Amino acid sequence: MEFKELIVERRSVRKYKDQPVDMELLKQIVEQAQMAPSWKNSQTARTYVAASPEILEELREKGLPSFNQNSSRNAALIVTTFVRGVSAFTNGQPDTELGDKWGAYDLGLHDAYLVLAAKNAGLDTLIMGIRDPEAIRTLLGIPEEEDVVSVIAVGYRDQEPGLRPRKPLEEVAKFY
Ligand SMILES: Cc1cc2nc3c(=O)[nH]c(=O)nc-3n(C[C@H](O)[C@H](O)[C@H](O)COP(=O)(O)O)c2cc1C
Repeated sequence: MEFKELIVERRSVRKYKDQPVDMELLKQIVEQAQMAPSWKNSQTARTYVAASPEILEELREKGLPSFNQNSSRNAALIVTTFVRGVSAFTNGQPDTELGDKWGAYDLGLHDAYLVLAAKNAGLDTLIMGIRDPEAIRTLLGIPEEEDVVSVIAVGYRDQEPGLRPRKPLEEVAKFY
């Protein structure tokens, strides 16, 4: 798929086929996401990939509200986190007024690469920000130093969602 087509065709998909996603394919996607840039190459993004049925069921049930459980049914789940106090920090002090927002920024870039890599591999995704971070932390053994940010469903789409409208360019961008 051409890159332009890829970014236009990526959609949030909320219905997946009962078709497991191969762990090797998930590994490839996660590896491609690692190519995202980060502050001083600090690479504080972390991923926790759940693909086996037992862990998926528990993660969905304990970590997601019912509407996100339903939307992500049959999909694998990738939890993404970042290590606090590293990206844009020197000797424990923030380099800018934004503090750990740069860590979240880096993770957002990482996750953008991840969803596009998934699309390129013939898969679709749903980024979910409504989740229970502490339940997910306990279940997956995520260290306290990391902020649990998103849960990303990855699977084979069973719906054709239309393009959600974007704001007019002049409302969101200025060109000087
Ligand atoms: C940070 C973030 C959190 C989101 N959380 C949820 C969520 O919890 N549940 C959900 O159904 N969609 C969630 N979405 C999906 C957005 O609603 C969706 O990206 C947006 O409506 C644009 O649609 P599109 O992705 O199809 O272009 C989230 C998206 C982002 C980027």
